[in-house]
Amino acid sequence: MKKSLAAISFVFITFHTIAQMPWYHHTTIYQIYPRSFYDSNGDGIGDIQGIIQKLDHVKEMGYETIWCSPFFKSPQQDFGYDISDYCDIAPEYGTMADAQQLIDEVHKRGMKIVFDMVMNHTSVEHPWFKKDVAKGKDGNADFYIWADKPNNWKSMTGGSGWQYSKERGQYFWASFLPFQPDLNYRNPEVKKLMLDNVRFWLRRGVDGFRLDIFNVIYKDAALRDNPFSWKAVPDEKNPDGFFQKFKYTINQPESMQFAKELRAVCEEFGDRMLLGEVSGDRKTIRKFSGDEKNDGLGLVFNFEMLRYKFKASYFHKLVENIEKDFPNPFMPVYVFSNHDRRRSIKRVKDDMQKAKLLHLFQLTVRGVPCMYYGEEIGMTDARIKFKNGLDPIAQKMRKYPRFIFDWAGETPNRDELRTPMQWNANTNAGFSTNAKTWLPVNNNYTTINVEKEKGDETSLLQFVQRVLKLRNDMGALKNGDIEFVERGKLPKNVLAYKRKAGNSEILVVMNFSKSEKSVQLPDNFSNVLLSVSPAEKVTGNKLHLSSLGAVILSRQ
Ligand code: GLC
Repeated sequence: MKKSLAAISFVFITFHTIAQMPWYHHTTIYQIYPRSFYDSNGDGIGDIQGIIQKLDHVKEMGYETIWCSPFFKSPQQDFGYDISDYCDIAPEYGTMADAQQLIDEVHKRGMKIVFDMVMNHTSVEHPWFKKDVAKGKDGNADFYIWADKPNNWKSMTGGSGWQYSKERGQYFWASFLPFQPDLNYRNPEVKKLMLDNVRFWLRRGVDGFRLDIFNVIYKDAALRDNPFSWKAVPDEKNPDGFFQKFKYTINQPESMQFAKELRAVCEEFGDRMLLGEVSGDRKTIRKFSGDEKNDGLGLVFNFEMLRYKFKASYFHKLVENIEKDFPNPFMPVYVFSNHDRRRSIKRVKDDMQKAKLLHLFQLTVRGVPCMYYGEEIGMTDARIKFKNGLDPIAQKMRKYPRFIFDWAGETPNRDELRTPMQWNANTNAGFSTNAKTWLPVNNNYTTINVEKEKGDETSLLQFVQRVLKLRNDMGALKNGDIEFVERGKLPKNVLAYKRKAGNSEILVVMNFSKSEKSVQLPDNFSNVLLSVSPAEKVTGNKLHLSSLGAVILSRQ
């Protein structure tokens, strides 16, 4: 009796029931890049009505929340990440009425939608910037960060981030690209107006925001020089680079404080998701989520798995580390691909079988999975010459030879991973009726597309759909604890973990190797709920795993 009471209290202390959790801690996110999703009016560019027409695909897959990359008014120098009006829509994407209809149509289907808020910078076309330039340095308080003489700060994309404005006779600071001037949040007017923009959309019903480069919002007030570093290339765990430690330009304590203010604004409207794009080691990014109560950003991306290794030991260590830094009430975000980085399937040489395991892992670990459009069908990166790249980063990097990036396993030409969604085997993969699409359609669209995979029960799409269904139906997968089966008890390159919430309990077993494996199943877990292929077999308490096989089991 005593023993069972202890067991019960263990369960209650360590997991939160769904009712105690904010909805965004047990959701699944599907990222839509509007320009590439579906073109409803035949101009070669995806649009808001296109998203509306394809909402049923997202719903049928089983994703619960949609994140749309920006479609606000913008000169599109960085395809929407350079905004000139936060409260209007770029005409090529639609109208305000379309945006409202999108929010409503998503809600009608029982899903949620978050918009992409670029708070750090605007476009140089924004009226605020034009005003700052025109008024000169002796006018009223500045909306942007100006200096007579640049300090040594490097931008996140390399080179000095200071840009000269002839008209004003001063330099302005741009953390990312020269046409994206950083706002000055030390001016209370800027903060107030930007928070009004946030409220503008919350009032219209959006369920929250993905926050673009949130961790650079504040810079050092005294503009002190950054120290030297030997680090040449920024990476997921350490954003320093270009031989500089980004001590005064990134992750300032004021930005972490601002996360709490923003959270309070959102809470005026109820439980709204704030998902921060932040960079740094795990402990640093956690700080954006607030104190023990998780009272800052409800979620922050963890980008370290963007450069995953396809090995059981890698995933085991990854989760163990993440669990240490993001225990309840924090919730980690697992992301393998997005609109900035190579598609995850590229790292396993476009292997669909391996992509199934990646999805299975992402959808069954404790955390919020964030999937990029096309990942569900195994869309691959295209190869587009830098010189033809529309992406401003590709333009910036065109002087460097391609092999350096290939060697580093990256592409600076983000066009390659933003090609149109592959809906079917018709012209332009069914994305657009226009002869010319904004980016070329990947030529593998006749074999990799939604329609084809919907009709094939061995497809990645159907597999992802099955895993999502199970996740949506099972408390253990939505909000359960995670506990690993010791590596010593498993064959080499096999990963196994349990998820449990109250009476709901499952075991996930994955074979990351190409050879067959036999696994001794613990605690009566012998009922197969889902498997990658029919070749996975349980006999007694022995599980036979085929090459790259994987299963989800419940107790008998
Ligand atoms: C973020 C976005 C990226 C954009 C940049 C500047 O990293 O994800 O697409 O170019 O910020 O806004």
